[in-house]
Amino acid sequence: MATFDVIVIGGGPAGYVCAIRAAQLGLATAVVEKDKLGGVCVNIGCIPTKALLHSAYAVNLITHDAKALGIEVSGVKADYGVAMKRSRQVAEQNSKGAEFLMKKNKITVLRGTGILQPGKKVKVGPDIHEAKKAVVIATGSRVKGIPQIGLEINKTTVISSDEALFLEKAPASIAIIGAGAVGSEFADIFNAFGSKVTLIEALPRILPIEDAEASDVIAKSYRKRGMTVLAGAKVLKAAVGAAEVTLDVESGGKTEKVTAEKVLMAAGRAVNTEEMGFKESGVQLTDRGFVKVNLATLETTAPGVYCIGDVAGPPMLAHKGSREGVFVAELIAGHKPHAIKYDNVPSVTYCHPEVASIGLTEEQCKEKKLDYQVGKFPLTANGRARASLETDGFVKVIRDKKYGEILGAHIVASHASEMIHELVVARENEYTVEEVDLAIHAHPTLSEAIAEACLDSMGRVLHT
Ligand code: NAI
Repeated sequence: MATFDVIVIGGGPAGYVCAIRAAQLGLATAVVEKDKLGGVCVNIGCIPTKALLHSAYAVNLITHDAKALGIEVSGVKADYGVAMKRSRQVAEQNSKGAEFLMKKNKITVLRGTGILQPGKKVKVGPDIHEAKKAVVIATGSRVKGIPQIGLEINKTTVISSDEALFLEKAPASIAIIGAGAVGSEFADIFNAFGSKVTLIEALPRILPIEDAEASDVIAKSYRKRGMTVLAGAKVLKAAVGAAEVTLDVESGGKTEKVTAEKVLMAAGRAVNTEEMGFKESGVQLTDRGFVKVNLATLETTAPGVYCIGDVAGPPMLAHKGSREGVFVAELIAGHKPHAIKYDNVPSVTYCHPEVASIGLTEEQCKEKKLDYQVGKFPLTANGRARASLETDGFVKVIRDKKYGEILGAHIVASHASEMIHELVVARENEYTVEEVDLAIHAHPTLSEAIAEACLDSMGRVLHT
């Protein structure tokens, strides 16, 4: 049995970042990890999908835009297997990076499954380790199927992102159930690699948590690229065969059959809370199955046991988990960290064009009966977007009429994921829309569209 100040269960972006910060603050720290460091994000999530999305982007650029860009190409062959292998190298590199950071910060990595024991103890294999100050739960989430309609993940015809990331070739056809971030990103990838893609979403529009106008641009772009997009669609039943799956899908008042070589389940994730000794140690769960935490401290119902990342509740995003990790480490070390602003966590879907947002959607502003003004600037009017042949998209800023507060911002653009942070920083520091515009934006950049959207919300747009 070893004793540490802090034991973190789970080495994903929430857990390993928490461990680094705890070690930086002088705490003797251990991380328990049963698989590779970096968790879902690094190994089978954010990082490898970004590598595949970059390949998909290049395929689209070459097949659709090369001629207009003055490049003649022939014999183009998109090989998913090769792209997949590169994505594995990138994931591997990042996981090794996390290993290096553990060593650099003198963090002990305990290999195995961590089971929480009463009294701030953690069992790993036959050994029981004790935390003097705190245990941090960061066990993350996993994919889930829809067993109610016969769609259990069988890893051959019915797959999840876990399997999609290791396919040697793109399937001839794929039906993707769920058009949140996972479903929409894989639709983009497989379409580029030649699969016939059907994207099925239960809610009335794809990317349903995003602003309706953002969803519209992506749905249009996907249809233009030949994908079938079924929103407001219900999968009634599934016939799972050895070589293909047939789904009965009800959409727009009629039922149609969708047959595909593979079905990709992207209808949300389940959190990892089972068989981890939570109940026995006094860690309670919420009605929705997340670990119950005091939102001000992220402490669970068991004193000295904290919880961060996906398992602590939505949004299930790596960057939210990492921030919680830093916050909890500082709290455990006796510091007074800044409170986490959960209404200021950016959301990004890395399809092409990318969708990024912060704060409220226009629909939410309407529901809350806020007095707001929308400012919008289309990329068709932005010089840099035109120069790059990437004019699909817009920037939308929602401004509180009385105080100029940035209520929400929504960007659809080739580099929306990078652009959104201007508005994240602005909101974090309570800058007004007027103050964002005051900052001189370099010309020509896509970011000028942000300044223009701000101006538009004040009735002073310059370039439309
Ligand atoms: P999600 O919850 O974001 O989206 C699932 C979608 O499936 C929803 O739109 C839901 O309405 C739909 N759905 C549920 N049941 C359905 C059914 N029976 N038929 C049709 N549609 C159905 O879950 P997702 O995309 O699997 O992602 C899981 C988590 O991981 C999310 O919290 C997500 O934000 C996060 N993530 C973030 C990424 C990013 O930041 N780019 C990338 C991938 C995942």
